[in-house]
Amino acid sequence: MIQWRITVFLLSLLPLAAMIWGAFHGNLGANPVEALSHESGSWALRFLLVTLAITPLRRLTGWRRLGLLRRMLGLFSFFYACLHFLVWLWLDQEFAWGSMLADIAMRPYVTVGFLSFLILTILALTSNMFSMRRLGLRWKGLHRLVYAAALLAILHFIWLVKVDLMQPLIYLGIFVLLMLLRLPRNVVMRKPRRIVKKQVVT
Ligand code: HEM
Repeated sequence: MIQWRITVFLLSLLPLAAMIWGAFHGNLGANPVEALSHESGSWALRFLLVTLAITPLRRLTGWRRLGLLRRMLGLFSFFYACLHFLVWLWLDQEFAWGSMLADIAMRPYVTVGFLSFLILTILALTSNMFSMRRLGLRWKGLHRLVYAAALLAILHFIWLVKVDLMQPLIYLGIFVLLMLLRLPRNVVMRKPRRIVKKQVVT
């Protein structure tokens, strides 16, 4: 499994390598800041959806060790979200805290993106064994917020797109499918209840 983990770790760094390569070789198009923002945001969302796909994939394939990759993939989603936030804060807002707070409060797509980022931060900070032990049963409940983080990120994308909604709707479709695959089997294949007629004894 260790080889798998190293391979997935190195593969997960490829988008970062592509961004750095593009930035140093002037391959990011006419608006490099926008390109970096789009790339980092897209990868944060993709890693989030891949993380959510682990449990259904484990159920379908029976490969239990897949679960060991979930934490790493979730942390990569947070890593790309941090990069995305940093690009916005540094290159877009130039660390102007007042304008940043105004943007978060006034522009709904930034508000939901920020909420998603806040949730990812909490999840990343509590993804260690120490927090698991301390929070006990509450840990699972807290980490269910990952679904809210993904939905908010998709909403963020839908909200900011002005013309072609195709891409964010594809992400929404994948999210809905992953949620359906997570439903317990007895909910999906529930047998119709037999109606038992009461006999009236006279
Ligand atoms: C502090 C939080 C966030 C801020 C301020 C923020 C801001 C932005 C901005 C300014 C854009 C580009 C808008 C444009 O030029 O059209 C963008 C795009 C995007 N963001 Fe965020 N974002 C945040 C959090 C997130 C998070 C947590 C995710 C995913 C987990 C995310 C995913 C995306 C995606 C997928 C796009 C569209 C990329 C594309 O056009 O291909 N964002 N965001």
